[in-house]
Amino acid sequence: MDIEKLISEMTLEEKASLLSGDDFWHTKAVERLGIPRTMLSDGPHGLRKQDQGGDHLGVNDSIKAVCFPAASATAASFDREVLRKIGEGIGDACQHEDLSVILGPAVNIKRSPVCGRNFEYFSEDPYLAGELAAALIQGVQSRNIGTCIKHFAANSQEHRRMSSDSVVDERTLREIYFPAFETAVKKAKPWTVMCSYNRLNGEFASQHHWLLTEVLRNEWGFDGYVVSDWGAVSDRVKGVAAGLDLEMPGSGRTNDIRIVNAVKDGKLDEKNVDESVRRILAIIDRYESNRRPDTPWDMEAQHDLARELAAECMVLLKNEDGVLPISSAEKVAVIGKFAAAARYQGGGSSHINSFKVESLLDALEGNENIIYAQGYDTVNEEPDEIMITQAVAAAAKADKAVIVAGLPDSFESEGYDRTHMRMPNCQNELIRRVAQANPNTIVILYNGSPIEMPWINEVKGVIEAYLGGQAVGGATKAVLWGDVNPSGRLPETFPVHLEDNPSYLTYGGEGNTAVYSEGVFVGYRYYDKKKVNVLFPFGYGLSYTAFTYSNLTVSAPSIKDTDTLTVTVDVTNTGEIAGKEVIQLYVQPPVCGVFRPVRELKGVEKISLAPGETKRVAFTLEKRAFAYWNQDLHDWFVPTGAYTIEIGRSSRDIELTRTVEVTGTVSAPTEPLTVNTIFMDLQKYPKAMEALKPLFGKAMGAISNSEEKSGFEENASEESAAAKEAISEEMGDAMMRYMPLRGIVSFSGGFVSYDQLQEIIDKLNQE
Ligand code: BGC
Repeated sequence: MDIEKLISEMTLEEKASLLSGDDFWHTKAVERLGIPRTMLSDGPHGLRKQDQGGDHLGVNDSIKAVCFPAASATAASFDREVLRKIGEGIGDACQHEDLSVILGPAVNIKRSPVCGRNFEYFSEDPYLAGELAAALIQGVQSRNIGTCIKHFAANSQEHRRMSSDSVVDERTLREIYFPAFETAVKKAKPWTVMCSYNRLNGEFASQHHWLLTEVLRNEWGFDGYVVSDWGAVSDRVKGVAAGLDLEMPGSGRTNDIRIVNAVKDGKLDEKNVDESVRRILAIIDRYESNRRPDTPWDMEAQHDLARELAAECMVLLKNEDGVLPISSAEKVAVIGKFAAAARYQGGGSSHINSFKVESLLDALEGNENIIYAQGYDTVNEEPDEIMITQAVAAAAKADKAVIVAGLPDSFESEGYDRTHMRMPNCQNELIRRVAQANPNTIVILYNGSPIEMPWINEVKGVIEAYLGGQAVGGATKAVLWGDVNPSGRLPETFPVHLEDNPSYLTYGGEGNTAVYSEGVFVGYRYYDKKKVNVLFPFGYGLSYTAFTYSNLTVSAPSIKDTDTLTVTVDVTNTGEIAGKEVIQLYVQPPVCGVFRPVRELKGVEKISLAPGETKRVAFTLEKRAFAYWNQDLHDWFVPTGAYTIEIGRSSRDIELTRTVEVTGTVSAPTEPLTVNTIFMDLQKYPKAMEALKPLFGKAMGAISNSEEKSGFEENASEESAAAKEAISEEMGDAMMRYMPLRGIVSFSGGFVSYDQLQEIIDKLNQE
């Protein structure tokens, strides 16, 4: 496609027409010039290709497809390979189905456990979310299908999602809500980005110039097109100028007309229209010239892949007395509606019409050691005595009881948030009663986000399976019976109570204003700082084998922030069976006058180890691993100091540490000196320090002389005189520290006048 030639041949009307959808899922064609329509579809856990009635809420049917584990689950794999493989599978399916772009991954940060779409999002941690999103994008795009990373930005609630204003300070955006997008854009170059519904600091994301042009394109180098979330456009003309290229779905062409009129009236520069057309055509061309409609889509093979990957995502949370794995000779009561009808995906635009679903009971078909009882249903929340009695009777007869529990569909979905973190009463009651009847009770959880576990001390085993995709039953069986050794880790903290969550006080907002008041202290960044007791910490997960860590090394004891640091650690499988370990690297910054989390995740590797095997794992850390966003510099900044490199099993279980001195090479900007600058802050102005310290000394001397005159030392023994000296030095220091420069005038008894001081300050400011 000769894009420049096409642009020069298009009328303004044709150009404007390309900037909105033809229908729910297609871009417009310009037949006269041979520009084809292309199709975009949800995403992101499989294909939701609607060939008839289109909608963005998962209401109308879509073609049969394969539902992979949801992002909440795949994040728990902590494994880039899992995401890459899913991406490749989806890419093949898209080629087969003639889809140019799949709408995902969704990388919004899990600010609160109750966000309705948490099941679709990766993590409370931006590093993890960014790494995994990049891997998914690389997988899909290796098949020459575009991805659409979404929803940019600060879209961490469903409540009033199309009108709410996320009020987030600059540092918090840069450190928490942006990096998943930034990493993915820089590392994996998604073809498209979807702007979110919400406003950000007063402006709709769909018309936010700073967001879509200055940050996304100018800073991060994004070169694809930006598409609106479905229906996110408010002022289309402003949106074009801000960098929103494609409006989806098309607003019945009314906005195309507005664009044309705005250009004609001189309210919009035609260059902006050309730029958007150029970006949209470039992606259409990239797709069209790499189409492979003969790509096979082997759904059965992808079902098997979905099963294999779902098992990689499961997190073993509790395994008292080694109750798991179950041995084939044991008689097992399998209890719970979800064992027969798995809950494996969430509601809304990501909803897949699975070509088949494999429940735990399906996977156990023919196993004569299994007795099943339903235990609860998903319609009624209150316990059903008859069902519970049947379940208890089954459990009493078995060696072990496995309860498949979780959240019903209605509890979590796109479009609304949860109001609490509880499971339905009927399930909590069932678990308690079964646990009383059978001491070897194990709970499997199918849910998309954290829940309270009031029964945690009454059961021996717990597995968090999240929403594991259409083959979750087979994966559940594989982990329960030990064919797969669980290796998932929690990509989010499970608080004991919802009220413990840092966003609790302001989540959802007042009216349309949602202030992200906890700032950078999201998830474990808050819980660890406050030392809040949690149910399960970020990064936590057990295995059927055991691992030890040793020989933590750093490539240098001290570095500059422009250097890279290599960190290595040896990991050994000391158990009897093979297993996978997730090695987590956190960095703990020095105390530095800026509020920072205790530690932040800066590296993750997952390795597989045979019994007795040791492997060395290496991480490379660069400036960003040590930096925070400095709001005066409007840039990343590394304060000089001692940073602790930590290798941990979770954010709460640090095994090995090493300290590295990092020297920042950028100086923080300094305000001009005034008479109100305090002595402590003078350290940042060496010249001023040199010139003013003696004057301070004089002023302080004047204070202590006047103390002496007031008879402070009367009756003092030699000992108390020494003590006084120590105290007064300390006190003197403290008083000095917070003393403004004008103190030199106030306390020197006329030694320096105000005018003289101002003169010195003016001179120093000029130097
Ligand atoms: C969702 C997007 C989705 C789009 C198209 C919107 O409601 O927020 O994630 O891709 O619809 O279905």
